[in-house]
Amino acid sequence: MNKRVITFGTFDVFHVGHINILERCASLGDTLIVGVSSDALNFSKKNRDPIYDQESRLKIIQSLRFVDEVFIEKSLEKKREYIEFFKADILAMGDDWEGRFDQFNDICEVVYFPRTPSISTTEIIEIVKQI
Ligand code: CTP
Repeated sequence: MNKRVITFGTFDVFHVGHINILERCASLGDTLIVGVSSDALNFSKKNRDPIYDQESRLKIIQSLRFVDEVFIEKSLEKKREYIEFFKADILAMGDDWEGRFDQFNDICEVVYFPRTPSISTTEIIEIVKQI
């Protein structure tokens, strides 16, 4: 059976923590589908515009060899619809979301991976600001 894995994120200022999670997600199945947060969704979550716009972030994610399908995630409330629409068998996320998606256990397996330590988009932006 072709196992389909779905994950979500903003993936702004792309970094090795993003690569690691996407590689781990891909290792769970045969097809990796990535929902990339829209600019508007990112603003509502983080209260700032992303550095790279949604089309650029989508293009970066799409170009990775272990990513098969990408789409723009427009609403956090639509996770269930996205999981069903893309026929995902597994939802995988970093453990900063631990427990937050357990409600989808009824339609797919839910997996959390440990975050890569000491790197995040927010931290990179703060470091660059100080240079
Ligand atoms: N992620 C990870 N390890 C990191 C940073 C992110 O595993 N060091 C994972 C997150 O858990 C999530 C995905 O990458 O599943 C996308 O995270 P995102 O929020 O886009 O990246 P962050 O670097 O965490 O961004 P921010 O600092 O703006 O929260």
